[in-house]
Amino acid sequence: MTLNNNLDDIKSCTVLVRCDFNIPSDIEDLTRIYAAKDTILQLVNSDCSVVLMSHYKRPSEDEAFTDKFSLRQIIPSIERVIGLPVNFIEGDIRKVSKKDIKHGVNLLENLRFYKEESKNDMDFAKTLATIADVYVNEAFSVAHRKHASVAAITEFLPSYPGYSFINEITNLRSVTSNIVRPYTAIIGGSKVSSKIDVLDAISQTADTLVVVGAMANTFLAAEGYDMKMSLVEYDYIEKAKSIVAGAKSKIVLPRDFMCSENIDKPGKCCRLKCIPDGYSCFDIGEKSINSIKMILSKSKTVLWNGAIGAFEFSNFNIGSREIAGFIADLTRKKRIKSVIGGGETVASIAEFKDDMSFVSTAGGAFLEFISGVDLPGVVALGL
Ligand code: 3PG
Repeated sequence: MTLNNNLDDIKSCTVLVRCDFNIPSDIEDLTRIYAAKDTILQLVNSDCSVVLMSHYKRPSEDEAFTDKFSLRQIIPSIERVIGLPVNFIEGDIRKVSKKDIKHGVNLLENLRFYKEESKNDMDFAKTLATIADVYVNEAFSVAHRKHASVAAITEFLPSYPGYSFINEITNLRSVTSNIVRPYTAIIGGSKVSSKIDVLDAISQTADTLVVVGAMANTFLAAEGYDMKMSLVEYDYIEKAKSIVAGAKSKIVLPRDFMCSENIDKPGKCCRLKCIPDGYSCFDIGEKSINSIKMILSKSKTVLWNGAIGAFEFSNFNIGSREIAGFIADLTRKKRIKSVIGGGETVASIAEFKDDMSFVSTAGGAFLEFISGVDLPGVVALGL
């Protein structure tokens, strides 16, 4: 299915654009600002006054209206990305009026300074709507939140998805409904408990589900292996067993690992049955890398979410680098479509990012979407 929006028809009016400027403060990652760039410029070029709005982190009631959580600090980054000046509209969002809006690009203060935002408050949404003629959602990464600027606002204004919002949905649907097979999903990360819905859903849709990262330890412990000092969620062994028992996918687990007594020390390659006492598994081993590559080379669609190993440690990033490089290569050769998502996954493939077919800007929204959840922000736009 091709999704269309009518952004090109929006001309000479005031447009409220919901963005996700919840960018990490410790690293210079402006991906989410770049995601909104085309939509913002399209509207400006169509003679619209654009009013950007976003949340920034999760300020408590005491932290609301403090500089630390103000969107003012993001303005230089937005201006750098879009190449236009941004008029910051200070003060109470609920009291902003049309006369505060300049022709060009404007920015409202952090939506989460108002508890009404997270409550999907109708009056708050209606007040926001009074300053604009049209609403555009360009924040797929917050589409899983039933918040006033994401859901309720669509009751009061003609509402459209932005270019990047449509791009996210179109690409993520290629791993949920419009799947070209064989379809392989690689799901990693540390805990089964944090990805039960994803594992449940993907084990029904993928042809092959490769479980990696520390969560593989829990699946292997469920098979009866002694994972020694490795992270295992013993409370989730039964859940792991039930996922395997109910899976329509072939489930593949690593069979060798890079193990060490200490994550700061170099690892040694151990087969599953030979993990030494006192050792933990921090990355997959060479045999596992090769068997995953074999599966990938027979696939047409590949989804990857979650770290393969302790990739932040140079001794344990080989699995991530090898698999990322291999997926990038298959993608460049047009042999697969690769869809990557989730904050730590994107960090672990940084150098191969541009070679992937699609890298989602979303974390939580990505996981919920691929789990089959109807996201409030998507439903509100009738998509
Ligand atoms: C994100 O970073 O995933 C989005 O901005 C949503 O943020 P939240 O989890 O604080 O709602």
